Amino acid sequence: MTADLLFLHIDELLTGDDRGVLRDAGVAFMDGRVHWVGPSAEAPAAREQVDCSGLVGVPGLVDCHTHSLFAGSRAAEFQRRLAGATYTDILEAGGGILSTVQATRQAERSTLTRVLDLRLEGMLALGVTSVEVKTGYGLEPATEQRMLEAMAASSSPVDVLPTFLGAHAVPEEFRGRREAYVEQVISQQLPACAPLARFIDVYCDRGAFTLEESRAILEAGIAHGLTPRIHAEQVAFTGAAAMAAQLGATSADHLEQLDDAGVHAMAASGTVAVLLPGAMLYLEDPPPPVQSLRDAGVPMAVSTDFNPGSSPVRDLWSCATLACLRMGLRVDEALLGITRNAGRALGRDDLGWIGPGSAADLALLAPPPGEPAELAVLVQYMGGHKASHVVKDGRWVVRDQQRWGQGAGEAR
Ligand code: NIG
Ligand code: FE
Repeated sequence: MTADLLFLHIDELLTGDDRGVLRDAGVAFMDGRVHWVGPSAEAPAAREQVDCSGLVGVPGLVDCHTHSLFAGSRAAEFQRRLAGATYTDILEAGGGILSTVQATRQAERSTLTRVLDLRLEGMLALGVTSVEVKTGYGLEPATEQRMLEAMAASSSPVDVLPTFLGAHAVPEEFRGRREAYVEQVISQQLPACAPLARFIDVYCDRGAFTLEESRAILEAGIAHGLTPRIHAEQVAFTGAAAMAAQLGATSADHLEQLDDAGVHAMAASGTVAVLLPGAMLYLEDPPPPVQSLRDAGVPMAVSTDFNPGSSPVRDLWSCATLACLRMGLRVDEALLGITRNAGRALGRDDLGWIGPGSAADLALLAPPPGEPAELAVLVQYMGGHKASHVVKDGRWVVRDQQRWGQGAGEAR
């Protein structure tokens, strides 16, 4: 059998599975699927062959926690925080998330899609092929639904995995009426949004939603067929990670204040710990308990948490580096954190590894000038990487660093 497309002589290939890292490796695609992965010397015949010597290969990267869809700017808030105001102070005073809500409520669907697609374009250039995107800047039924419609209208080759986050903050018009807002999320937003979303998420924290409110919202989401995930233990400890784990959450995210009971509840349920070093850096949070998570066998993912407030960070590679520097991950853990474990955080066992049966997503990158083509170098250097080639669903989307096909214009 002749494959369609064969990448040969990849200096180091991260398989993301038991085979670990392969040297002088090849990957063959056929009919939009992975046909073969192995040593170049054993490669099958193919109609098109690409020499990848000098390049490193990774499964298409997965950014599993982002707020990539928003309007407006928070540069003034950034400066207020530098001058001493805290993230929670600003939110409680009606700024922060709520200022992005004001701007997003005013934005048309097509505008939201256009900006999202530009942001995804930038992520694709890094080798990211799947991005989870949350709502949560509408906080009322029409805008929450419009955010999901804007995601569905994306023309990017990057897969968007949509999450409903109506419980991101209590909006101005419900100030002092939290119960009524939770009721609106459950009885109005959720029915409008569930058909367009895959996950239900809640920001459970001081200044956001309580443990009991979060539980009620997650349970309602589950009843609508959504998979639960949660923003947990970021600013203050609430017990949210253990609660979400008991509800079968695929991930609990942030976790700077996580306790031992939470670690063990997550281990018992197979809940992935999503580490968000961008938010940790910008909010000057302490690191999450990585050694306890590691000892308990909790899988760890790393994501950008890209958003205009707590983590204006789009570069997943930089987050892998920061997770090593500031959270104590090893390089191999950081690499699995932006691939296989990020897929698991999304309940997607086909994402973030490469082999027959996996998603047919592959990125090939050159090391920085003068460096060897080794995976560790891409984590050692802080960002600035640009994929030479990216394959999505077995087809070219970036070739020789140029965008290819997918209706978005040839090589621009
Ligand atoms: O993950 N913590 C809550 N939500 C986001 C921040 C969103 C924003 O500030 O706009 C986070 O950090
Ligand atoms: Fe977040």
